[in-house]
Amino acid sequence: MSEKIKVAVLISGNGTNLQALIDACIAPNYPAEIVLVVSNKANAKGIKRAREAGIAARIIDHTNFSSREEFDSELSIILSNSQCKLVCLAGFMRILSESFVNTWPNSILNIHPSLLPSFPGTKTHERALEAGVKFSGCTLHFVTAELDAGPIIGQAAVPVLDNDTPKTLANRVLIEEHKLYALGLELVANKILKNKEADLHREQSTVSKSLINF
Ligand code: GRF
Repeated sequence: MSEKIKVAVLISGNGTNLQALIDACIAPNYPAEIVLVVSNKANAKGIKRAREAGIAARIIDHTNFSSREEFDSELSIILSNSQCKLVCLAGFMRILSESFVNTWPNSILNIHPSLLPSFPGTKTHERALEAGVKFSGCTLHFVTAELDAGPIIGQAAVPVLDNDTPKTLANRVLIEEHKLYALGLELVANKILKNKEADLHREQSTVSKSLINF
């Protein structure tokens, strides 16, 4: 495949979702490539994963900024410079400001460890177990200014077992997150490529029509 959609991945920790995306991007026909990984935590294990895969990785420590807006505006500049078209949040433990989200419309994806709209926010597995749900899972969605409420790209469900703890449930959900993220990014990137192709055809046909009229 010739053209690939450039993607940046934002992380704060272990980066197993990042690893799933790195692995998916190895396939020659996968429509996306990771051009940058950014972590707001210096000790995030995901930084090592990125560097081992030969991907540029940067640490932007949010504690060095006096406000959320300042951090987000620096982040936005770094992302723009990477020329990424999509931003994938993969365990990025920061809320993004409205102005950041509006700068990247329909371009930010997030994986959340519950079947949204149930259990937005944190401590999802604890709350799912407390509520006694029989299925939990994960959701890949576009990010909007409202927390964990953007349009859903895809979901995967897992059964909740009688002896589940938050940890065992989290582990079972995480396996599905990895598959869902790789698949969802593929769908979104392919859609962008298709739209670009359609735009190009439209442009070409406009040019040829105007040549005929000339
Ligand atoms: C995942 O469960 C993700 O859904 C949540 O944080 C966890 C990050 O895991 N937002 P990892 O860093 O990708 O391993």
